[in-house]
Amino acid sequence: MSRRGGPLRGAITVPGDKSISHRALMLAALAEGTSRISGFLEGEDTRATAAVLAQLGVIIETPAPGERCVHGVGLHGLRGPSRPLDCGNAGTGMRLLAGLLAGQAFDATLVGDESLSRRPMRRVTEPLVWMGARIDTSEGLPPLLIRGGRRLRGIRYESPVASAQVKSALLLAGLYAEGETEILEPHPTRDYTERMLSAFGWPIRFGPGQASLTGGHVLQATDVQVPADFSSAAFFLVAASLVPGSELRLRGVGLNPRRTGLLLALKLMGADIEVLDERSSGGETVADLCVRHAPLHGIELPPALVPDMIDEFPALFIAAAAAQGTTVIRGAAELRVKESDRIASMAAGLRGLGVQVAETPDGAVITGGPLGAGTVQGHGDHRVAMSFAVAGLVATGSGVHIEDCRNVGTSFPGFMELANGCGFALAGA
Ligand code: S3P
Repeated sequence: MSRRGGPLRGAITVPGDKSISHRALMLAALAEGTSRISGFLEGEDTRATAAVLAQLGVIIETPAPGERCVHGVGLHGLRGPSRPLDCGNAGTGMRLLAGLLAGQAFDATLVGDESLSRRPMRRVTEPLVWMGARIDTSEGLPPLLIRGGRRLRGIRYESPVASAQVKSALLLAGLYAEGETEILEPHPTRDYTERMLSAFGWPIRFGPGQASLTGGHVLQATDVQVPADFSSAAFFLVAASLVPGSELRLRGVGLNPRRTGLLLALKLMGADIEVLDERSSGGETVADLCVRHAPLHGIELPPALVPDMIDEFPALFIAAAAAQGTTVIRGAAELRVKESDRIASMAAGLRGLGVQVAETPDGAVITGGPLGAGTVQGHGDHRVAMSFAVAGLVATGSGVHIEDCRNVGTSFPGFMELANGCGFALAGA
């Protein structure tokens, strides 16, 4: 239950970046030597990836919360698992691991929870099969049975979807392939895999929308500092913008330009967000974000921003619902295949709070106005649930009751405590 609260004040640090935490574990596992990861996201998704790697014979120590010490086994040192590998709710985990496992000597099966079992996998399995992998799916859905002992060869792949997961899966398979693996994207996506491969000493060429590498090199252990996750900061950027009197500082947030579309979108809507103390940490730009309340107005979201804020639409829907005027979202059909169909989940929830929302196949038209009280479904989708927690802060009456919000811990363990500590009024069931 989320009730009217605030103002939001103080300085907080949101947990570590999910995308970087997954990748750091995987590359450290395949490296020669021991890598230390700090700022690691203690979420269910990333812990599932750690558990999968442990099943593959990698020793991963936890010296302290948010720290991992990964004893790399080298590119060919993984051991065949005796049971299916459970990726939980994590699309990133499953898709990247599919690439990593395609080049191994052993068979492995990747399984996931109910939501992950409904998510499309052909986008990775098809190009992997073109590289020589053999992967059985049930009609393109998990589980994925990945056969070992295949000889992979590099391909030039023009991806029809702007997806960092697809790109990363192919790059990881490319480590094991003969010749060059090259991926071209319709729009540039987050380049963490590329940057991290380079940090682990693997030669790679990459630029916006393009990456290529050849097989046959070695990954050298290195330490990884994970910045705070912009996608987790996003809920607070919207919340503090909406609640009068708010002034909140978010510390050490990763500002990779392929992630910060929401910052630009909120600024177009009139938000007051200052980027302070910009610095470089572990090859990524990080900064503190200071957000103050400001009245927001509706916008036509520039479609070019969509890939750079693909995880932030649930939060944007709330900003749009509480803004003055109409917000038009287009070109975001990918939202329909996330942890839930996020266009449908957000539209239905907002309508239940009295907001006018028209769904389109690739977006929505949201007419801002007062948010009422009501019960909404979280659809087991962490970001949908957290977005409606933000809605509750400004909703009238008895607040917003959120059902099916158990998955918040996949990306944001401790959300409720951190949020209540700076002015939210959240209570458990
Ligand atoms: C991610 C890529 C994005 C994003 C997901 C994390 C990644 O997915 O939505 O939360 O870490 O590579 P797509 O590649 O499917 O767009």
